[in-house]
Amino acid sequence: MPPNIIDPPIQADPEFAAAKPAISHAIPDNVVEENDNLKIFQSSLSLIAHILIGVVTGISILFSLRNGLPIGATPLHIILCVIGYQLLMAQAIIILSSESGWSSRLKLVHKRRIHWIVQIVGSVLAIVGSFIKILDKNIHWNTYHGQFALVAMVFTAVSLVNGLTSLYAYELRKFLPSNLSKLSHICFGTVAFAASSISLCYGFDKSFFINWATLEFTYTIIAFTAAFTFIIIINPFITFYRKSRSIITS
Ligand code: HEM
Repeated sequence: MPPNIIDPPIQADPEFAAAKPAISHAIPDNVVEENDNLKIFQSSLSLIAHILIGVVTGISILFSLRNGLPIGATPLHIILCVIGYQLLMAQAIIILSSESGWSSRLKLVHKRRIHWIVQIVGSVLAIVGSFIKILDKNIHWNTYHGQFALVAMVFTAVSLVNGLTSLYAYELRKFLPSNLSKLSHICFGTVAFAASSISLCYGFDKSFFINWATLEFTYTIIAFTAAFTFIIIINPFITFYRKSRSIITS
C-alpha cells in the first residue's frame, strides 16, 4: 500500500448503529441453540423430501411422455395420479406440519386454508387418474398395484368428507366430538397417502417401466418414493400420538 494512503477505519452503518441497543443481549451467530438443531434437522428433512418428490414426479411425467403427444389412458393415469397424490397431497400434508420452508411464515389459519384447497385439487386429479385406468381395464383389482390404488382412493374419498367435518369441528361439536373428527382425518389422510405411494412403487415395478428405466434406476426411484413417504408421514404420526395422549390423560 502506498505510504500516503491510510486504511480508513470501518464506519458503522448509522441506521444500524441507531437501531442497536447500547448493551446487546442477542445470542451470537456462532452459538447454536438446542432448538435450532431440531429446526435444522426438520428443514433438512423437508428439503430432502421436496427434492425427492420433484425427482419422482419428474421421472414419472418424463416416462409418460416418452412417446410424445397425444398420450393414452395409461400414461394419462400415471401423470394425474402422481401429480394428485405424490405432488399435491404431499404438499398439503407438509404445509400443516412444517415449521420450515416456504410456508413457515404463514399463520396457521392460512396454512389450513391452503391445505384444504391443495388437498381437494390433488384428490380430484388422483381420483380422475384412477378412474381413467379403471375404465380402460376389463378385470379389476387383480394386482397389488390396483389393490393399493383402491385403498388410496377409498381413504382419499373418506378423508375428503372427514376433512369437512374437521374444518367445521367447532360448529359440529354437538353431533361429533371435534377431537374424534380431527384424529380420524389424520388417520385416513395418512393411510391414503401411504397406500398411494405403495401403489406407485408397484407401478414402477412393472416390466414396461423397468425396460425403459433399467432395474437399478427403478430400485432407486422406489427407494426415493419410500424415503419421502416416510419423511412426510412422520409428522402426522406425532400429531396423532400427541392428540390421542392428551385426550386419554385429560
Ligand atoms: C400413485 C400412482 C398411481 C395410482 C394411484 C394408480 C392407480 C391405478 C388404478 C386405480 C388402476 C386400475 C386398477 C384396476 O382396475 O384393477 C391402475 C392400473 C394400472 N396402472 Fe396405475 N397408478 C399409479 C401409478 C402407476 C405407474 C407409475 C405405472 C407404471 C409405470 C402404472 C401402471 C399401471 C398399469 C400398467 C395398470 C394396469 C394393470 C394393473 O391393474 O396393475 N400406474 N393404476
